[in-house]
Amino acid sequence: MCGIVGYVGKRDIGPDVVLNGLRRLEYRGYDSAGIAIRYNPGQRTDEQYGHVIENWREVGGVDELYDSMPETVLWESNCAIGHTRWATHGEPSRHNAHPHTSMGRKVTLVHNGIIENYETLKKKLIQEGYVFESQTDTEVLANWIEYIWDNNTVDFVSAVRFALKDVVGAYAILVISPSTDSVIMARKSSPLAIGVGEGEFIIASDATPIVEYTKDIIYLEDDQLAVIEEGTNLRIMDLDATEVDPNIERVELELDQIEKGGYDSFMLKEIYEQPDTVWTCLRGRLTEGEEPLMMGGVESVLPQLLRANKIFIIACGTSWHAGLIGKNLIEKLTRIPVEVDYASEFRYKDPIIRPGDVVISISQSGETADTKAAMEMARERGATLFGVVNVVGSSIARMSDAGIYTHSGIEIGVASTKAFTGQVAALTLLAIKMARQLNSITDNDYLKLKAALKHIPGKIKSILADSEAIFEVASRYASEEYQDFLYLARGINFPVALEGALKLKEISYIHAEGYPAGEMKHGPIALIDENCPSVFIVPNDSSYGKVVSNMQEVKARKGKIVAIVTKGDELIKTIADDVIEIPETEELLTPLLTVIPLQLMSYSIATARGCNVDKPRNLAKSVTVE
Ligand code: AGP
Repeated sequence: MCGIVGYVGKRDIGPDVVLNGLRRLEYRGYDSAGIAIRYNPGQRTDEQYGHVIENWREVGGVDELYDSMPETVLWESNCAIGHTRWATHGEPSRHNAHPHTSMGRKVTLVHNGIIENYETLKKKLIQEGYVFESQTDTEVLANWIEYIWDNNTVDFVSAVRFALKDVVGAYAILVISPSTDSVIMARKSSPLAIGVGEGEFIIASDATPIVEYTKDIIYLEDDQLAVIEEGTNLRIMDLDATEVDPNIERVELELDQIEKGGYDSFMLKEIYEQPDTVWTCLRGRLTEGEEPLMMGGVESVLPQLLRANKIFIIACGTSWHAGLIGKNLIEKLTRIPVEVDYASEFRYKDPIIRPGDVVISISQSGETADTKAAMEMARERGATLFGVVNVVGSSIARMSDAGIYTHSGIEIGVASTKAFTGQVAALTLLAIKMARQLNSITDNDYLKLKAALKHIPGKIKSILADSEAIFEVASRYASEEYQDFLYLARGINFPVALEGALKLKEISYIHAEGYPAGEMKHGPIALIDENCPSVFIVPNDSSYGKVVSNMQEVKARKGKIVAIVTKGDELIKTIADDVIEIPETEELLTPLLTVIPLQLMSYSIATARGCNVDKPRNLAKSVTVE
């Protein structure tokens, strides 16, 4: 899950065009970074090739790279490629960082993805006398292109095409050579966007490094290759050299959406954006009164959804937790059976998919490789594919027959927050719409749920207004004595317990587990002591009484308790050590409120422990490899 950026065009790249672009992509990987600058003959001359390519790489983020570069770097160049890495093959180090250059120096490239058959190609190259300086699959690709180029009478573009035909795996690559002014890019599974500017091109893993320069973007499709010649001529083709007309899309993404807006971190900004982002997801869809919900993206497959024998939900991480809530909502309101699977398991478990079944894929980035692979398998088995996605134009959105965009805006913090509430809001709308069509919900419940949903953004706002009180509670659990946490709930809030535990794990590196509260006595209660706090999610709903008993069980064993309760709950104040109140709402909508204090708590504990919440260790925002 790396970030790649390239520039070719009229302006000098300076230390900002590519490096700032990489900084915008650091949420995709940040264990090492690099940049290769190609100079025109005359600026720097290479007897053998004409152009000169200078390559700098460093462990750490883009700032570490920039600080490691000599003052003497010549930034006056109109072509450079860069990379920010999330290691897959070979530990984070200078020699494993990208860009990688082939042994004969003919090919320099950056790569996002995994070359699965790199060992086979590497063995052949070693037999041919190639020597490798890194452990990466990417260096193998650079040498494979050079090998093809040197051993066939082909040009640069054909050498790359032929080389990619031998590759098994996922890639988004940017390739340059000192012997030509062409810049080549190609993708298979990993995302790649080409920003078309006035006399310039900015190429990147997504739109964030591009919108500063142009809003006109071409999203390269799988198995497509593009070449930019003389800095201005763009050609797109498939790997058989059949030319393809570029499909330029106008992307509505403003720069301020990708800035911190005065917050200490993107994560905190995104938590506070939720009243607006949830409303943006509801707006135009959540109609007044008896009117049907307006969900244009659903209409084309609504018949399949309504008569589905079974609905599968596939996703990963936080999106999987949203899927569990979606299951609860769809089954409760429509009585259609729903199975929720980890996408990484679904593909390999040989699921029983029958014609007429629908597979719902949930993904913030729309690029998660596990989810895409599971969708491809579901497609082969004849399922209807429905997507719940945040990133517009992403692969999963393109692969789906129909879907819902969550409109949460760009999410940069690696720990997902506003995308989660967006996914839950979208699934809630879907379940209500289906139930209305099926008449499996009473008029009264339909009106009640719609009215309550309308007030959710305001209620999230009121919780955020109390964030100081939540931070104060969190501060009592931030010290090192607390290394294990349990998150407990029942019913539709059990997935919120899982989500709360994941948030704490992800950004504070504290061990935390989410459990159905009723499961405690079957094992996890053994963990309870004064150093293992329990966070109970216990709104005033149908399982309230049961959860209160589970809290008594923990209290009896001197466990510390933080409870998320409905405003005005006096009973739990007598049991729990700390209470965080949320406004009242319909039971089925409580996850949209109960998760907010958990996001703020994990944020507060992580920052108190000095963790980098936007770029937690070992993680990346979009997991584009299996
Ligand atoms: C959540 O905070 C994590 N970033 C991660 O678990 C994420 O939810 C998972 O990788 C799925 O990503 P997606 O929604 O972009 O597919």
